[in-house]
Amino acid sequence: VSGFRGQVTLDGPSGTGKSSVARAVAARLGAAYLDTGAMYRAATVAVLDAGVDPEDAEAVARVVAGARIEVGTAAETERVEVDGADVAERIRGAEVTRAVSAVSAVPAVRRRLVDQQRSLVGSADAVVVEGRDIGTVVLPQATVKVYLTAAPEARAQRRALQLGISDPAEVAALAADLRRRDEYDSSRADSPLRPAADAVVVDSTDLDREAVVDRVVGLALAAAGAR
Ligand code: DC
Repeated sequence: VSGFRGQVTLDGPSGTGKSSVARAVAARLGAAYLDTGAMYRAATVAVLDAGVDPEDAEAVARVVAGARIEVGTAAETERVEVDGADVAERIRGAEVTRAVSAVSAVPAVRRRLVDQQRSLVGSADAVVVEGRDIGTVVLPQATVKVYLTAAPEARAQRRALQLGISDPAEVAALAADLRRRDEYDSSRADSPLRPAADAVVVDSTDLDREAVVDRVVGLALAAAGAR
């Protein structure tokens, strides 16, 4: 056990290996882990099940306000529920992935989930929180803030490997889709995706997962020791 106490924020675009890095860092630090993207995805399940158009901000806000969204905070297991139903697999599906950017752009949805994220983190001695706006909005006083990025082509390659895709045209389409989602997430009015002023930017284009994990664990231990 590392003896680490504090909050580690891990923000950045999709396809950087952020989730697997965040879980591994939490396990190494003996810390709790919160995947905030899973919460926006769970909210999206509620919206789709209500038959509401994800672009209809008012209807989306109403559905999410009435949904019970529960996520686990253990690094080793994943628990995601909406109104008591297990949605851990569904949140990774294409339908949810297509609609989640629109749902997460609705300010009332963000306010509600940010409140819930702060209260989930509140009682933990040590926690790793992963998302897009954790260092900038959710936990501005965090012990250490990391912004994980990588070239779109490298992120598309990683995604292709996960999906078992090797056709260069399909990989290029994945890269184009990642660029489109980055653009959407970075340009939204509420909590756009960007590094916090005091974040350490880690570019994983030419690093393997273990090297990134070592770097983040090192930053966390150094920051906790320096306090
Ligand atoms: O990290 P992910 O792919 O599971 O995130 C899903 C979506 O939710 C993505 O479009 C960005 C959004 N998101 C967000 O707006 N704020 C967060 N803190 C986490 C995710």
